[in-house]
Amino acid sequence: MEQTYREYLQARYGVSDTGLLNEFISRQDGKLMFANVDLEALVAEHGAPLEIAYCPLITEQVQRMERVAEQARQETAYAGSFIYAYATKANFSEEVVRTALNAGAHYETSSVADVRIATDLWRRGTLTSERYVFCNGSKEDDYITAILKLRLAGNKHVVPVLDDLDEWDAYRQSPVTMGIGVRAREYAKCAGGDRFGLLPDEIDQVVATLSGTPHQLVLYHAMVGSQIEDQDAWLNKLIGAVEAYCELRRRVPTLHMFSFGGGMPTSAYDLGFEFDYDAFMRRLFATIAETCARYDVPVPDVVGEFGRYTVASHSMYLLEVGKVKRGRDGDAPWYLLNGSLMVSAPDTLIVDDQQFIILPLTGWDDAAQSVRLGGRRTCDSDDMYPRPGQEPLMLPETNGGQIIAVFGIGAYQSMISGKGGAHHCLNPEMKRVIIEQEGDRLVTRVIEQQSLPQIMTALGYGTETQPARVRRAPAPRVRRSENWRTIVRMVDQHRVIQEPSGVALTN
Ligand SMILES: Cc1ncc(COP(=O)(O)O)c(C=O)c1O
Repeated sequence: MEQTYREYLQARYGVSDTGLLNEFISRQDGKLMFANVDLEALVAEHGAPLEIAYCPLITEQVQRMERVAEQARQETAYAGSFIYAYATKANFSEEVVRTALNAGAHYETSSVADVRIATDLWRRGTLTSERYVFCNGSKEDDYITAILKLRLAGNKHVVPVLDDLDEWDAYRQSPVTMGIGVRAREYAKCAGGDRFGLLPDEIDQVVATLSGTPHQLVLYHAMVGSQIEDQDAWLNKLIGAVEAYCELRRRVPTLHMFSFGGGMPTSAYDLGFEFDYDAFMRRLFATIAETCARYDVPVPDVVGEFGRYTVASHSMYLLEVGKVKRGRDGDAPWYLLNGSLMVSAPDTLIVDDQQFIILPLTGWDDAAQSVRLGGRRTCDSDDMYPRPGQEPLMLPETNGGQIIAVFGIGAYQSMISGKGGAHHCLNPEMKRVIIEQEGDRLVTRVIEQQSLPQIMTALGYGTETQPARVRRAPAPRVRRSENWRTIVRMVDQHRVIQEPSGVALTN
């Protein structure tokens, strides 16, 4: 045996097989733990595939960053405040947004539906009145209308961030004073291009047309990227934006917030992750203070819109290696999963070099080997991880049956994949276990795996009240061990399979 899995992990990441592997993964008594959840016990109870959402990790993230920022503010004697907003586009699930707000986060929106959620939460008091609602993105009429409605309903902290000049034309009509923001397109040169925000001459036009209106320019937004782990590069990009803020502040005294947008990295994707949050926040405040002093303007309140950082770590998948296939010509073997990473972690496909932390629940004393994960529930050659050119994935040797944990999928994955409806190759959404803190106890909720009738209904094959045009027959009682014999019998008799309730499917 060349190297056991535990030896590999030790050599690659310098972590022991006992105790903490990172901030939220540990191994205790030979068991892999996600926060304080024993993953093997969960699989024993619920089976796999399984998605686990552990909401207290969201609270920890928000409160940790608030603490870090407060400490950094004090150490740099920064006179402005720090405003933590949750970028809900990372994960709109009700329990996620509620947890982030309960932890003290402000709200950042990206769509009309998002403003509707914010409005509803504000009416219910979950989003308290002193919290900001920053509205980003290119805005169609219904998005602008929803923002105006929220303002007219009495929310004084909704701040539309102009992405286009015609938006401004709409807010100018508001009979109630609006605090608005501008997003500087200059700094939005991320992988997706520079389509977000206003060019300098457009910002000038907004400033020129402010006077005579009751409205105020209050925020300058300059997002420069996502998951930025290089502090120097990040700060270098931000300095230009802070200088532009200062120049604008000289002309517009109502301006008092500088938003660096998203970008705060999460530890959720890589066991080797290192980022000194304390140092970054200190450097950020010091850089802004020094630049403002040079321009002789007061320092702004600093806004961060935290997407990945807030929620990436809070959820994970457990998948079973259902089949192992030999690699050809010396290639790594295929571990075929009873799910699809392409469907449930689409960033494996669309984000260059996206990594996830993937660990086995058992087999740490078995030989480690390089493997390729394939989705057994799609027939798509792109349903594989790691992608060609990425670092090989090492897992213990197995003939199948091994459970692997895929961490760090709480941000963007289920939003891009979609919730409900039909997915690629009709891969059903996994059973979900949602764990939330209620007072001093943890409360668990289970949402069953998406059923075939739900998928069929989404595709128009009929609804529960209006069955599709297929024959119905009594449901065969299938015990797991009898699966195969039952299938053979049904194929023989060309019977109809009936789900417990809903649509019948001929086989
Ligand atoms: C305007 C804005 N703010 C915040 C975010 C969140 O970014 P991140 O997930 O890097 O925190 C995004 C992400 O696209 C964004 O577009």
